Amino acid sequence: MKTIDIGILGLGTVGSGVVKILQDNAQKITDITGCKLNVKTVVVRDVTAKRNVDLTGIELTDDFTKLVTDDDIKIVVEVMGTVETARSYIKQLLNAKKHVVTANKDLIAQHGPELSELAKQNHCDLFYEASVAGGIPILRTIVNSFAADQVESVLGIVNGTTNFILTQMTQNGLSYAQALKLAQEKGFAEADPTNDVKGKDAAYKMIILTQFAFGKDITVDDVKLEGIDGVQLADINEAAQLGYTIKLLGIAKLIDDKLDVSVGPVLVPSSRPLAAIQNENNAVLVTGKAVGETMFYGPGAGELPTANSVLSDIIAVTKDIVLETTGSRFNGYVKNVALAPASD
Ligand code: NDP
Ligand code: HSE
Repeated sequence: MKTIDIGILGLGTVGSGVVKILQDNAQKITDITGCKLNVKTVVVRDVTAKRNVDLTGIELTDDFTKLVTDDDIKIVVEVMGTVETARSYIKQLLNAKKHVVTANKDLIAQHGPELSELAKQNHCDLFYEASVAGGIPILRTIVNSFAADQVESVLGIVNGTTNFILTQMTQNGLSYAQALKLAQEKGFAEADPTNDVKGKDAAYKMIILTQFAFGKDITVDDVKLEGIDGVQLADINEAAQLGYTIKLLGIAKLIDDKLDVSVGPVLVPSSRPLAAIQNENNAVLVTGKAVGETMFYGPGAGELPTANSVLSDIIAVTKDIVLETTGSRFNGYVKNVALAPASD
């Protein structure tokens, strides 16, 4: 049986989940792919730190170049975060003909087209399902299930940390600071939670969703942006009395053929499904001209849900390796080329 060696860059919340699912579901993965997926090397910053995963048979190192130079490693999973370091590493990996799976929305929102082009040149896959809405398989759904439709809007709750904070403030009376601390302890928040609470993490996800839904590359400067750091408990209570729930929504829609993208706190009528999305869960509503409104719901952050999305990409790459079709599908998801780009 074919064995495919995997390298992992980062062993925090998501990286640990990836190792656990690969270990726990090894037989099922082998049955589905016809391959044994073997985690060979994991790169971290601190090799002496205590880990909560079984690393038997896995090399733990702080030397990134091992992933580039090891010819046996075919797939590298980047779950370390950062933008410039990750960008440099992924470029080196793609140039060394490694297929890359990443959960890094900051990187993909800012450099996705460049990296996908590099992947294409090297006949490699570059997939990033986990970069948007954690455990919800939203990117693959848009690529596959909206291929023949025209998307009119994509909107929803795409940041787990802020939804967790708003839920905890509303339902459990936690202060903003207490709720943020809890979100950090649960592994939902970014290493630096500033992008979560100021809406930038959601903006990055809306940039990626915009690429998929409308075939258009935008930057964070194109997104009207407001976070939840100004939301007070009094605002939440006042909204509730009036029949509304405050949610941080990302909204991308066509208005008179122009694309309008925003992230900010919105008063959602409490009777609407979006108002009922609690804690770290996300929900994305995709409206297509043909299909109408659809809604996708699930955990938007956290160890195993996010890792499951990473695994879906690893399995997609594995199937491509087996079928010798790497680099040919979706071209790294840069654009849903079936759709005409939105007008400027
Ligand atoms: P963590 O902070 O928990 O883990 C980061 C890991 O990367 C650590 O193991 C760290 O090493 C390692 N690392 C960081 N910098 C370097 C470096 N320069 N060289 C080598 N290793 C490095 O992050 P998460 O697991 O939470 O997130 C990882 C990625 O996944 C991010 O891009 C994040 O945005 C994304 N993501 C996270 C989700 C979540 O729910 N947490 C959900 C969806 C996406 P060490 O352990 O030694 O410090
Ligand atoms: N910090 C992110 C969130 C992780 O809370 O949604 C998932 O992308």
